[in-house]
Amino acid sequence: MKRIISLALAMIMIIAAVSTMASCNSGAKVKVFTEYELTAEKYAFAVAKENTELKEAANELLADLKANGELDKIINSFFDGTADFTYTNTVSSVPTGADRDNYLVVATNAYFPPFEHYEGNKLSGIDMKIASLLAEKLGKTLYIYDMNFDAVILSVQKGNADIGMAGMTVNEERLKSVDFTTEYYESAQVLIVREDDEVFANCKSADDIVATLEKQGKSFNVGAQNGTTGYMFSAGNEEFGYDGFTNLTTSGYDTGALAVLDLSNGKIDAVILDKQPAIMIASNTNK
Ligand code: ARG
Repeated sequence: MKRIISLALAMIMIIAAVSTMASCNSGAKVKVFTEYELTAEKYAFAVAKENTELKEAANELLADLKANGELDKIINSFFDGTADFTYTNTVSSVPTGADRDNYLVVATNAYFPPFEHYEGNKLSGIDMKIASLLAEKLGKTLYIYDMNFDAVILSVQKGNADIGMAGMTVNEERLKSVDFTTEYYESAQVLIVREDDEVFANCKSADDIVATLEKQGKSFNVGAQNGTTGYMFSAGNEEFGYDGFTNLTTSGYDTGALAVLDLSNGKIDAVILDKQPAIMIASNTNK
């Protein structure tokens, strides 16, 4: 009898969990200032300094994909939603021991559509597709190691993962810890606000956005994902060469989507995020 009750309870809990996941966000709609690019950034994959072999294989793959037009096709298909690539790890935890060498372990943070994200419980996105091609080229099985974004570089440095494929921006400071492959995408940070926002209503350029951010006080709260260039742009980071906006408050989030959710619910005033993920996450939030 007890068993039946706990089974029933478990069922109810699962149903409740699934229905909250499926329910729409009840907060305000948000909008992205897609035209006003606050930074200019380039993405590449991160490998350990000593791992020239893997770097060269990845560079060769990227060169091929660029030359035959495949890279553009992959990127476009994830932008317009026609891509049908998904991946599920073949083992339930990070391969170790004698088996480790048979795997290409890819470090990412899979909350960054369309570069890496979940479709149900399957992994998808531009970087994940390229990861699968890289594993194929190397004759290895792909293992996608989903972690906090701010752990990606360290895990590559320590060899817990072979390569970081995470919509990662190349910069001098990161180059001190890891090597980067050739660049495969150009991006920018952009600002997201609630649709009824009035603070930035008169902005006509990226400079206007920056000037408006500079005018805000400590009660103005900007959200960004921890460890990202967007976070550094807002909060400042001396080592990385970001002055930041010390006049306002920057709040760090585990994912960009959580920041946008808080924005929609009125808990923060703006979010700074990479452009294409901003567009995707905003559109998911507005559904
Ligand atoms: N391009 C930004 C950076 O390198 C953000 C990357 C976030 N990526 C992710 N998979 N969550 O800092």
